[in-house]
Amino acid sequence: MNTKIILLGYMGSGKSTIGQLLAQKKQLRFIDLDTFIEEKEQNSVPEIFKTKGEIYFRKKEREYLNEILNLDESFVLALGGGTPCFGDTMQHITQKTPHTFYLCMTAKMLTLRLIPEKHKRPLVAHLSDEVMEEFINKHLFERNPFYRQANFTLHIDTLSPSEIVTMVEEKL
Ligand code: S3P
Repeated sequence: MNTKIILLGYMGSGKSTIGQLLAQKKQLRFIDLDTFIEEKEQNSVPEIFKTKGEIYFRKKEREYLNEILNLDESFVLALGGGTPCFGDTMQHITQKTPHTFYLCMTAKMLTLRLIPEKHKRPLVAHLSDEVMEEFINKHLFERNPFYRQANFTLHIDTLSPSEIVTMVEEKL
């Protein structure tokens, strides 16, 4: 039986960092969906948003997600922050694997982590630092119903990456 471990959560919650560490520890392939899209499209995520628009990005994101979910192998997959939040994507994901983990952080913590690297994220790049927390709060409220469909919700504000990896391992 293949083990497909999927990490999801808001931008800046550490999905890629935790995914890499976990994959290393479990000796599994690591796939970062944003990087997968960038390689396939030969373009960066901010450039795809800029030149082709968000709707095109979401369509491709869903296509490449399906391609990965259908792989006949074990892996750790870090989704993009918005991946589970459109159409029936989250249902589709949870049908494919019981190992889905929501890396849940408070808006306050996400704001602190996202401000220094917001230029990499087209959805928040245009926002001033002052309005970031309010935006993230509202956005999280909209997205939480999707994120919460994950099999496990891990509250990770005060945890180190290695503690988070251990928590995931305990639930496999
Ligand atoms: C997005 C999150 C990004 C990336 C794109 C859209 C979102 O991924 O997919 O900028 O809608 O939250 P990260 O969560 O890895 O930053």
